[in-house]
Amino acid sequence: MELQGSSALITGGASGLGAATARALSAEGVRVTVFDRNEEGAKAVAEEIGGNFVAGDVTEPEDCQRAVDQAAEGAPLRVTVNCAGTGWVGRVINRDGSPHDLGAFDFIQKLNVIGTFNVMTRAASAMARTDPGEDGERGVIVNTASVAAFDGQIGQLAYSASKGAVVGMTLPAARDLSVVGIRVLAIAPGLFDTPLLAMLPQEQRDALGQSVLFPKKLGDPAQYGRLVVDISRNSYLNGEVIRLDGGIRMPPK
Ligand SMILES: NC(=O)c1ccc[n+]([C@@H]2O[C@H](COP(=O)([O-])OP(=O)(O)OC[C@H]3O[C@@H](n4cnc5c(N)ncnc54)[C@H](O)[C@@H]3O)[C@@H](O)[C@H]2O)c1
Repeated sequence: MELQGSSALITGGASGLGAATARALSAEGVRVTVFDRNEEGAKAVAEEIGGNFVAGDVTEPEDCQRAVDQAAEGAPLRVTVNCAGTGWVGRVINRDGSPHDLGAFDFIQKLNVIGTFNVMTRAASAMARTDPGEDGERGVIVNTASVAAFDGQIGQLAYSASKGAVVGMTLPAARDLSVVGIRVLAIAPGLFDTPLLAMLPQEQRDALGQSVLFPKKLGDPAQYGRLVVDISRNSYLNGEVIRLDGGIRMPPK
C-alpha cells in the first residue's frame, strides 16, 4: 500500500510503542494524528514529527470519534494503530486467599479490549468511506496484543484475558472488513524497552533481556514501528497475529 500522502491514527502515541510508530509512519510521509490521554506527551510527539494530536481516552466513544474525525481530515485515513493499553498484576486468589479484584479485571478489559474496539470500529467506518487505492485497498488496522495472550504468566489473569481478546478479534475483524478493502492484523510484542518496563530496576531489566532467545536484549520500540510500516506496505498480510519477541517463550514466572 502506498503510504505517502495518507493519514494515520495512533492511540497511545505519546509514549513507548505508539510514539515509535508515530515516528516511523511520519518518516514515510504519513500525516500522523497522535491520540493519547497524556496531552502533554501527545503534543510533544506531534510537534516532533510535524503531526497533530488529540487528547482523550480510548474508553470514551466520543473521544475516539473526535480522534478519528481529526485523523480523517485533509488526507485519506489509511492506517490505524492501537497502542493505548497497560498491564496489571494479580492472581486468581491473592496471598490471603481472597479473590482477584473485579474492579481491576474490569479496568484492564475496558482499556485494552473496549478501547481497541472503540477505535477500530470508528476508524474502520471512516476508512470505509475513503476512495480505494490500487487493488481496492482502503487501509490497515493494527492492534497491539502481547505474548501474554499465549504465554500468560502467574499474575497475568486480567492482562492475558485482555490480550487474548485482541488476538481473537483479529480474524473476524479482517473478515468483516474484507468487503471494504481494509486489512486487520495484530502484533504480539515480547519485552520492549518502553516506559512500561522502565518501572523495573535495571537489574531486573537486564535479567529480562537475558531471557530472550536471540538477540539477548529488550526490544527497541523502533523495531515495533518498523513492523507497522512493513505491515502497512505489504498488502498480502492480513488476519494474522505476528509475534515480535526475539523468540521468547515466557515461563510461568
Ligand atoms: N512494552 C512492552 O514490553 C509490551 C509488551 C507487550 C505488549 N505491550 C503492549 O503495547 C501497548 C503499548 O505499551 P507501551 O509499552 O508502549 O506502554 P506505554 O505506557 O509506554 O504507552 C502507553 C500509552 O497509552 C496511553 N494510554 C493509556 N491509557 C489510555 C487511555 N485510556 N486512553 C488513551 N491513551 C491511553 C498512555 O498515556 C501512554 O502514552 C500496550 O497495549 C501494552 O500492553 C507492551
